[in-house]
Amino acid sequence: MYNISVLPKLIKHILCETPNSQKTEIFGWVRTKREMKNLVFVEVNDGSCFAGIQCTFDRGAGIDTQTEAALAVLSTGASVKITGNLVPSPAEGQVVEIAATALMTLGDAAAENVSGQTADLDIQAYPLQKKRHSLEFLREIAHLRPRTNTFGAAARLRSRMAFAIHRYFQERDFHYLHTPIITAGDCEGAGAMFQVTTLDPKELAKQPADYSKDFFGKKTFLTVSGQLEAETYASAISRVYTFGPTFRAENSNTARHLAEFWMVEPEVAFAELEDDMALAEDFLKYVFNSALNECSDELAFFDAHVEKGIIENLRQVAGAKFTHITYTDAIKELEKAVAGNSELFEFEPRWGCDLQSEHEKFLTENTAGGPVIVTDYPKEIKAFYMKQNDDGKTVRAMDVLVPRLGEIIGGSQREDNLERLIKRMSEMSLKTEDYSWYLDLRRYGSVPHSGFGLGFERLLQYVSGLANIRDVIPFPRAVGQAEF
Ligand code: 4AD
Ligand code: MG
Repeated sequence: MYNISVLPKLIKHILCETPNSQKTEIFGWVRTKREMKNLVFVEVNDGSCFAGIQCTFDRGAGIDTQTEAALAVLSTGASVKITGNLVPSPAEGQVVEIAATALMTLGDAAAENVSGQTADLDIQAYPLQKKRHSLEFLREIAHLRPRTNTFGAAARLRSRMAFAIHRYFQERDFHYLHTPIITAGDCEGAGAMFQVTTLDPKELAKQPADYSKDFFGKKTFLTVSGQLEAETYASAISRVYTFGPTFRAENSNTARHLAEFWMVEPEVAFAELEDDMALAEDFLKYVFNSALNECSDELAFFDAHVEKGIIENLRQVAGAKFTHITYTDAIKELEKAVAGNSELFEFEPRWGCDLQSEHEKFLTENTAGGPVIVTDYPKEIKAFYMKQNDDGKTVRAMDVLVPRLGEIIGGSQREDNLERLIKRMSEMSLKTEDYSWYLDLRRYGSVPHSGFGLGFERLLQYVSGLANIRDVIPFPRAVGQAEF
């Protein structure tokens, strides 16, 4: 990483410098203040890395009155500028420290409640005092939680993983495509869409409402997936990917569902299901390796404090071949397991029904002992656009399942035959006139093509071990939750 010279130095860079008593300025937030005889130790953190830098004030050596006054009221959470010299540290566990001479408090953080002249000016004590807080409590203060080690690490991991994803695709001739956020179609056909409208409530209450009067002249929604639009560009420039927010109004209050999440969707022309699976595996391994190499401090922290063994687990997965199994064989495996223990699952596995997360867990953790790609699902439980197999029952779908989490990727080969696609759409009561542009891709220069969607937050959950998806996105949106 470059140390950009036009901005104040970050603590992560200062900690790597050779201590030569050079004059140094520190900017950050106070983690702790301790006093011992004539010495005052202030640990400052700026979130650029886990470690803070220790700044030692020596009253014996003389401190100016302004600094003395600032030190007297300094408390955890305050933002400061500290000036001093970078010297070798006599303390254990740190190579350098600041022999500090001046302290300027930029912003206080009250250690106790302070009442103001009006209620608006009242200030509650800074909620992040030096003790361990539960993830549930921190979720309620999502605007302050990035100042903790866990959420600082989650934020750095998220940013670097996003960059690694772009790098993977950019270096392999995939073009980053911006698909619309507002759409008129339902890509997944699951009906879990947020409506976008400027119609007034009186108009909306009419049965039926007149959407020709709405902003776009038709009924519109927030997108659930950029796939259909990505297919148009894959059918022109061969390899594209999207990476953007997607929205689902699913009423599922689980640890792996959000109403607003980020999805990565590559789409590749001239690629069949086997190519798609190979791409998904290569891509995931690349991203896992990037996490191991580029976020080693963060992973070490998650391994120690969040999910034991996460590093070893990622290493193993990055080195092993993913297991492939058809949906039909997966159901047989699950049925066999039930025959041995009828209490094993809450939901009975049955051909034709979607796999429940307990089934996904069993397949990864017991059947395969690692990631599994399940293929060829019954057409009834998958979206209209998937390529139909000759058996008339299944489609060329693939889901990548991983231990602890279940589905991390969903993808498929797309139906490229116009007649078959139209037939399937009418079976599913979809109006072809709503999808005429999509069908044009099958009318003009149709090619076999495939793609998948990775839930970015699911990836972050898997890599960090954070069990709740609301802890890997800065401001989670879920049923009943749109704070901040
Ligand atoms: O399986 P899904 O619904 O597939 C699609 O949307 C396809 N159009 C993708 C494609 O082929 N281009 O969603 C893809 C992935 C899931 O595997 C899961 O990781 C994630 O998106 N996902 C969610 N993540 C968080 N919260 C939710 N509510 C999610 N729904 C799906
Ligand atoms: Mg899916």
